[in-house]
Amino acid sequence: MRVVSGIQPTGSLHLGNYLGAIRNWVRMQDAMAEDGGQCLFFLADLHAISMPHNPAELRAATLEMTAALVACGIDPARSVLFNQAQVPAHAELQWLLTGTARMGWLNRMTQFKDKSGKNREGASVALYTYPVLQAADVLLYQATHVPVGEDQKQHLELARDIAQKFNNDFCEPDAPVFTLPDPIVPPEAARIMSLRDGTAKMSKSDPSDMSRINLADNPDTMAKKVKKAKTDPEPLPGELAGLAGRPEALNLVSIYAAIEGSSPEAVLARFAGQGFGAFKPAMAELVVETLGPIRQRFVELKEDRESLDAILARGALHARDIGVPTLKAAYDALGLIRG
Ligand code: TYM
Repeated sequence: MRVVSGIQPTGSLHLGNYLGAIRNWVRMQDAMAEDGGQCLFFLADLHAISMPHNPAELRAATLEMTAALVACGIDPARSVLFNQAQVPAHAELQWLLTGTARMGWLNRMTQFKDKSGKNREGASVALYTYPVLQAADVLLYQATHVPVGEDQKQHLELARDIAQKFNNDFCEPDAPVFTLPDPIVPPEAARIMSLRDGTAKMSKSDPSDMSRINLADNPDTMAKKVKKAKTDPEPLPGELAGLAGRPEALNLVSIYAAIEGSSPEAVLARFAGQGFGAFKPAMAELVVETLGPIRQRFVELKEDRESLDAILARGALHARDIGVPTLKAAYDALGLIRG
């Protein structure tokens, strides 16, 4: 088993990233210790240049996000933790795969449509080819499992399509170059929504900071954000069906259940008939209890520049070694002479 996943170092790590992806990374890392598999987790800094960005902020955010991942429980001694830019094979393999990826496939990617919006002609080429780099990220390491939130599933399906076409076009049937990766999406937290709008995903790029709970927020801010979350005046129902048409209420109940490791049904059974005046303080307490200790570790670590640089340098060395055979096999399969 080889587990590979990444996160863009843009902005701060939020509750959606944590529940949708990072918590699963940590669980898989811990399971690997028994199964003898390997985990690679990385900062997708190459992806971050697909949108307008400030170089100094990107540099700082890459280090901060490294600290955030370690604070969440990613252990650089057990998992390979690195940033893409220190492993040139990601960019190299991406180019090799652009010969296999089809325009029609990329044209279907919803993230490009969302992020380019009405300004398609003004979007960067990197934003368009972004999913090919993401395919390279996982195929380079022969990933078998890729823990992600729901929004990344389409990109993973593309990675499978690219791998399959490459194997078909350039490899003997009994000697494929690439493994087809499976996305692992936690059903209870596949898509955590904004605290201001229950129909929009919680996101680092939402202009309203009140829309998300950041790992970097202090406990008072976390509690305030929960208490100010948009809701409706109705009490909570006893059954899930009673939340139909109430996206904000459903989101808060789902977050509560995901943090607690129960189910929305179990949460409703406890709070049925009560209003948000009772639910929100309980939820705020749960959020602070869960994220508070992680935040504490994060605050201490993010100032330790030397350790963070060392973690990334060591991770990159290890990642480069792991990627060598696949990159070589891809060059060879395409008939490229590297000398
Ligand atoms: P990114 O940086 O947007 O998010 C990191 C991870 O967090 C998940 N996530 C969420 N899950 C549930 N609810 C939400 N509101 C929410 N918001 C974010 C994302 O699904 C993701 O798993 N393209 C990727 C980074 C990437 C990558 C990869 C991932 C680059 N290469 C290879 C996996 C494999 C991205 O921008 O994620």
